[in-house]
Amino acid sequence: MWLIGFAIHLKELKRNNIPHRYLEGKNIALLFEKTSTRTRSAFTTASIDLGAHPEFLGKSDIQLGKKETVRDTALVLGSMFDGIEFRGFKHEHVLQLAKYSGVPVWNGLTDQEHPTQMLADFMTILEEFGTLEGKTLAYCGQGRNNVQNSLMITSAILGVNYVNATPEDLAPDPAIVKVAEGFAAKSGSTIKVTSDPVEAVRDADVIYTNVWAAMGEEAQFSERVRVMRPYQVNSELLSNVRNPNYIILHCLPAFHNAETDYAKDIQERFGISEMEITDECFYSSHARQFQEAENRMHSIKAIMAATLGNLYVPSI
Ligand code: CP
Repeated sequence: MWLIGFAIHLKELKRNNIPHRYLEGKNIALLFEKTSTRTRSAFTTASIDLGAHPEFLGKSDIQLGKKETVRDTALVLGSMFDGIEFRGFKHEHVLQLAKYSGVPVWNGLTDQEHPTQMLADFMTILEEFGTLEGKTLAYCGQGRNNVQNSLMITSAILGVNYVNATPEDLAPDPAIVKVAEGFAAKSGSTIKVTSDPVEAVRDADVIYTNVWAAMGEEAQFSERVRVMRPYQVNSELLSNVRNPNYIILHCLPAFHNAETDYAKDIQERFGISEMEITDECFYSSHARQFQEAENRMHSIKAIMAATLGNLYVPSI
């Protein structure tokens, strides 16, 4: 909660053009094995606002994993940079970078987790409702991806009730559920998995959805379209939500129309122009995904400043 409060404070500073250069003179490596709009932009602008120099190192730019081990890359980068962001496939790689680099390493997404996304998500919920206490988040999406894993665990840590609506075959990893249940027992929140999307959204304050196939899972798209259709966030599903002030979140990018090359291809192959969320819901008055996207920058700034900055942090 402290980091979310700090992110909201940094957002205020930015809005009022008040400098907050906690990382003056630092060098930040931005390692991206996968494409990114929000995470890359957030780390870049956050670094610059904090007074640091960001250096983008894409998968075609460096030897990581191809000609050089992660351990050796970590030792080299750690000797030159003050902090490292990593977005990639293997969770093990971010752990190795953290183990061997000797500098703070920030997880910008792995196949297992998307932790920086979480701060922006719960920051947005706090901004909208003024509290997280007693709130319920319904995630209508397949249960086996990094966003689901992080949402389930972060909800449990922060005391937010969590429901994942997903087909039984795509139910969350029991190990993730166990971790979440451990945190939920302490925070007093509830963790639930159901195959009924109507049951999931009925008492929700936040409706969250995500792509049906994550980066690297495109080969499974045919099957995903078939099983995920009943979980689409559309006006019929949302007519069941009891809270008239519910909000919609999506980590983005979203497939809500057929205006992108990727979506056009899906439309041609499967005959659908909207996937996890309809265009109508995506642009409705309940939607908060662009506020959530902006909050990526403020919350990533909070993480970087708290872990590398010259500032007094009583506890996190
Ligand atoms: N939400 C998110 O991680 O967006 P990008 O893939 O654009 O970074």
